[in-house]
Amino acid sequence: MRKNIVAGNWKMNCTLPEGKKLTSEVIHMVEDEVKNDAHVVLIPPFTHLSSIHSLIGSSNKVLLGAQNCHQSKSGAFTGEISADMLASVGVTHVILGHSERREYFGESDELLAQKVKFVLDNDLTPIFCCGEKLEVRESGAHEKLVGDQVAKALFNLSPDEIKKVVIAYEPVWAIGTGVTASAGQAQEMHAFIRNQIAFKYDQSLAEEISILYGGSVKPDNAKEIFSQPDVDGGLIGGASLKSRDFTNIVKAFD
Ligand code: 13P
Repeated sequence: MRKNIVAGNWKMNCTLPEGKKLTSEVIHMVEDEVKNDAHVVLIPPFTHLSSIHSLIGSSNKVLLGAQNCHQSKSGAFTGEISADMLASVGVTHVILGHSERREYFGESDELLAQKVKFVLDNDLTPIFCCGEKLEVRESGAHEKLVGDQVAKALFNLSPDEIKKVVIAYEPVWAIGTGVTASAGQAQEMHAFIRNQIAFKYDQSLAEEISILYGGSVKPDNAKEIFSQPDVDGGLIGGASLKSRDFTNIVKAFD
């Protein structure tokens, strides 16, 4: 059975005191109110990871993620962070290939293939992001583009490796815009991604992979999106910065 996951990508927001307050609020609300067994992953900036790990403690419901990592073990890469550094402060999940990293930091599918492999080799779970820009959707090439992103970054993995990857479909036109994909559009793309995996590997393996939707998920649209058969949760940006909204999104699985 694949896992339901709600992950909060804080991006470059929150000072450490603000992040600690947000984390404490989320932990309390999740413990008091949430009835489902979805994993909740908090993904703050690197500087906050260690402190936030202490707040999370040994919770097996609330987990810690990072927003990126480098593809080498160590060395002269000023300003970068490696996968084993992340593991050493309690990180379990790492976002890779977010559209903002692709757009502003030139990350290619080839680079992402290296990062995904490296993260898996360090026993961390990659949350691999894919998604098309508006002009691609309008031209009707969105499935081809997303299919290529997934194939180039993930299809060199062995069956045992790809099983451990979480995929996040985040249409770029829905990120931070308030315009979410309809539940039907999300389902259609998620089913397409799962079919591609089934075609390359096999159906039962494809059924094990969690595919999250990201892009303007809010408390009032989460239930409809998450109820789609191939949507296994969300990667949440803006709404993850408000404990009440984020918890209510997690409760959409109740
Ligand atoms: P928003 O939820 O703010 O649209 O951001 C989505 C996102 O980019 C999560 O990674």
